[in-house]
Amino acid sequence: MPSTTHVLKGLEGVYVLESSISMIDTEQGALYYAGYDVRDLVERSNFEETIFILLNQRLPTRKEYLEFTSLLRESLELQPLHIETIKHYVSRTDILSLLSLLMVLEGGGKKGGDPAEKRSGIDAVAKMASFYSAILRIRSGGEYVPPRGDLNFAENMLYMIDGEVRNADFARVLDDLLIIHAEHGIPASTFASLVAASTLSDLYSSIAAGILALKGPLHGGAAEASYAQAMEIGNPERVRAWLESALSEKRKIMGFGHRVYKMYDPRATIVKKIITGIENYMDSDVKRLYEITVALDAYGQEYLAPRGIYPNLDLWTPILYRTIGLPPDSFTALFAVSRSAGWASHILEYWMDNKLIRPLHLYKGQYPKKYIPLELR
Ligand SMILES: CC(C)(COP(=O)(O)OP(=O)(O)OC[C@H]1O[C@@H](n2cnc3c(N)ncnc32)[C@H](O)[C@@H]1OP(=O)(O)O)[C@@H](O)C(=O)NCCC(=O)NCCS
Repeated sequence: MPSTTHVLKGLEGVYVLESSISMIDTEQGALYYAGYDVRDLVERSNFEETIFILLNQRLPTRKEYLEFTSLLRESLELQPLHIETIKHYVSRTDILSLLSLLMVLEGGGKKGGDPAEKRSGIDAVAKMASFYSAILRIRSGGEYVPPRGDLNFAENMLYMIDGEVRNADFARVLDDLLIIHAEHGIPASTFASLVAASTLSDLYSSIAAGILALKGPLHGGAAEASYAQAMEIGNPERVRAWLESALSEKRKIMGFGHRVYKMYDPRATIVKKIITGIENYMDSDVKRLYEITVALDAYGQEYLAPRGIYPNLDLWTPILYRTIGLPPDSFTALFAVSRSAGWASHILEYWMDNKLIRPLHLYKGQYPKKYIPLELR
């Protein structure tokens, strides 16, 4: 008999573990990685240091920082088998499926369960980034470009996509996006990673479980869905009428609502600030996207805020992705690259005191039923 007689649908409001990795302040609207305010990290740090903070829950010394960034750079290198796998599958599937396949292959033969496996955590995040970049590069007809020792993480990602060093401002925007998406408690994807890790599956496969849970439009896929929504709306003058009709059809407005924030998503505020710094790079399509988003933000709040539903990060990030030239079907995969830092950190932390995750279900069917042989049916 189950020990509980009621079901908490969607595990809403359920604490599933203790963690020192991040804290969401839903009163003040702030997000902290191991105690460090994400706003500070975006302004003063970079993605490399953010990964260190998440994995170690402290700042690195200067020596540790240099060692850490050099390990990350080393792990960005891909092997011929990676490139062959990407070439074989790139036109046959979507980016996230290919990313998860590459991670599963990377985990082949490895064991899980060791909380000291930080090196694998570093390798996994770097591999996610180089897989992503190589997929975009090869998909657009280019050959694999190896990372360069003189470039930072975000610069290398863009270099591996484009085959040339582009605008430094674009690399800064990418770096900011990587920091902002790196960690957010226990959403569906992190939980999926932990469920896999709790069986002592290897770290790479556990990250693949996270990637697959991130895919859907209610979670990581929301930025792509919010971009598609803006394209459907078409121009800012149509926003109010579109919104009224969508709400009357009980459609969910992408880029609005959150299980945890019942206020304006603080990450969306950071993204809006970054946008003001790159307005001069927006082409006419991105400018229209921006105007549609501004209108949707305002009218959407008029209708939805009274119900505690506010704009979230995914309403605004498509503007940044498009400004730096990333294809719309790669937004969720980039989110996965960034969030792999959070997944790896949670997996290693969980292994410090591992317990198989195995909840219960409340059986509502009949039993016992008499089995009737096939020939008598
Ligand atoms: C994120 C999300 C899944 C969280 O929702 P949740 O806590 O599970 O709450 P529910 O989906 O059960 O929604 C509760 C109510 O609010 C409404 N609601 C929630 N988000 C809404 C949205 N974006 N647009 C319109 N209505 C919304 C639901 O329709 C539901 O209304 P009802 O009680 O009349 O049926 C939800 O807000 C959503 O689907 N948002 C759109 C996708 C998105 O932007 N995701 C990114 C999150 S960062």
